[in-house]
Amino acid sequence: MTACASQYDPYSHAAMSDPHELYRALRAEGAPHFLPKYNAWAFTLFDDVKAASLKEKCLDFSHGQTPGQLLLNEFIPHTFATMNGPAHKAWRGIIAGDFTPDAVAAQVPRYRALARELWEPLRKQGRMDAYRDLANRFFCINAGYKLGLPRDDSEHMRSLIDDMLHRNPNQVGGNSERNQSAGGALMAYLHEFVGRLRADPARAEGFTKAYLEAEIDGHRLTDEELVWYLFSLLVLGSETTPMVIAATFYHLGQNPAQKAAVLSDNGLLRRAFFEAARYRQPTNMLARRAREDFEVGGQAIRAGQNLLFIYASANRDAKRFSDPDQFNCLREDGDPNMTFGIGSHFCLGKFVAIEAGIAILEEVFRDITDFEVNYDRCENSYGEHLSGFVSVPLSFTLKA
Ligand code: HEM
Repeated sequence: MTACASQYDPYSHAAMSDPHELYRALRAEGAPHFLPKYNAWAFTLFDDVKAASLKEKCLDFSHGQTPGQLLLNEFIPHTFATMNGPAHKAWRGIIAGDFTPDAVAAQVPRYRALARELWEPLRKQGRMDAYRDLANRFFCINAGYKLGLPRDDSEHMRSLIDDMLHRNPNQVGGNSERNQSAGGALMAYLHEFVGRLRADPARAEGFTKAYLEAEIDGHRLTDEELVWYLFSLLVLGSETTPMVIAATFYHLGQNPAQKAAVLSDNGLLRRAFFEAARYRQPTNMLARRAREDFEVGGQAIRAGQNLLFIYASANRDAKRFSDPDQFNCLREDGDPNMTFGIGSHFCLGKFVAIEAGIAILEEVFRDITDFEVNYDRCENSYGEHLSGFVSVPLSFTLKA
């Protein structure tokens, strides 16, 4: 059966398992699509997502950034991601200096050393799960390191974060027992961590220290607010990039000519990573609310309406990308900008994701002559918000 735009509901089983056919139908309408049930506009064209992202004075981030927050009234953490204008700039600015291209370039030797450390025992085994054993592990350790968490604790957070984001088929929102108990355990851990540092602030490190000491317009973070900052940075810093790394292996494995090209010229890994991020956009969609009337793609948006920025669809728009439903790491029209969002709320971790992601891939590829993905055992996430592989087992052969 062909997907029909009028059937689109971000919480339908079809949309939460594999939305691309629905997105094609929505893009074919050629204009933003209104969802009365959610009082929401779905933006699916590249130009519409871009135009709406740049209408910043018409956007209100304080009602949340995830679809669950806007459409299901899920809890909204009060961090810079859910602030507007100068407050957003000031609170994001506390740590933004650590995320510039230059600051990230200075971290690359540490990324390489960590990637090497995790890869070394896997290398000896001749097989690994690209998501579980390598990429997810790397990004949890890295996110924890930047917060000054003990390393063993950061590793333990991996399973809690995965459990918190896991969705059962047809599950709407993060309300399962598994989600709630993992989220509760993560929050309890962070509350205890913050409590210990309040008692002994000299032990705080990294972003935790920065936010513990921050004061803007006379406001210092309460324990609750500080915990939400740590929670957000831990989750955002560890979930998406591993999916892109896993997708890079998955799709190169399906395309022998591209795989051979990348294996013989590791310089192509940068393009392969960007293409995996485009083709398998991990942040399927994010959301905001309109605070003023404005127009996008010929449609009148009204203040108070919800807005779904569907990056995964924008990144497959045929008006912007040739042959958009083909994975092609040799394409000339790649563009990482939409993948990481556009406007002042663009992904804070953009350059970390890119440079650490590529460092991990390079550490592996420089040691191998070939790899085979076990496609029968790959697993995909399910849901309306994040989308990507959470397991890509593979075997490989090493250079002599
Ligand atoms: C391939 C991996 C990643 C992708 C595709 C991605 C994508 C995105 C997108 C699309 C946004 C929303 C942009 C907007 O609202 O305009 C975002 C926001 C954000 N991302 Fe990422 N991200 C990735 C990795 C990371 C990493 C490694 C971090 C590390 C800390 C991170 C931290 C954040 C934060 C803090 C925000 C909120 C920014 C704000 O509202 O000011 N992301 N990301």
